[in-house]
Amino acid sequence: MEELKKIIRDVPDFPKKGIVFKDITTLLADGPSFHRMIDLLAHRYVGRGIQKVVGVEARGFVLGSALAYKLGAGIALVRKPGKLPWKTLQKTYELEYGTDTLEIHIDAFKPGEKVLIADDLLATGGTVAAVVDLVTQLEADIVECAFMAELEFLEGRKRLPEGKVFSLLKF
Ligand code: PRP
Ligand code: HPA
Repeated sequence: MEELKKIIRDVPDFPKKGIVFKDITTLLADGPSFHRMIDLLAHRYVGRGIQKVVGVEARGFVLGSALAYKLGAGIALVRKPGKLPWKTLQKTYELEYGTDTLEIHIDAFKPGEKVLIADDLLATGGTVAAVVDLVTQLEADIVECAFMAELEFLEGRKRLPEGKVFSLLKF
């Protein structure tokens, strides 16, 4: 795991001064590392009856689609506003400054469908807490929220369902 962590690049002062941004594109760009990361995550969910992965725009789509393929599951897209063509359910959530909104198609799941929520990185947890709210409103059954990486000091997992958060690389 330490080798995978080392490949993630630190970018100081992005997107603003004082923040050290964990840049996961360096891990995605390295074939053997990307392969290993997906295999390690997928292994955790094989045999758990996952019917659909929920991918969160944009970096969550990279992880979500690879996991869905490995698990033989479908994928549902959570997108930024105005991108999904069919009827949507929306959730607006707080950011450090201002708010953001995410959307999902209202028919993304059958009631009780077993889903895995996937995103690249857990920071404050605001994004995936909004996704959990959407998926719950649509009556799907959340097996777990899976992340490539977690910024533990931000305590984002406290905003997510207890015992249903897994991250591969912890910072
Ligand atoms: C990033 C990241 C997570 C979220 C984590 O997405 O991919 O989705 O922020 O932060 P949080 O835990 O504090 O909510 P971003 O909104 O930058 O979108 P992108 O994937 O389109 O770059
Ligand atoms: N890296 C990538 N995505 C993020 C980060 C970060 O450090 N913080 C919030 N979203």
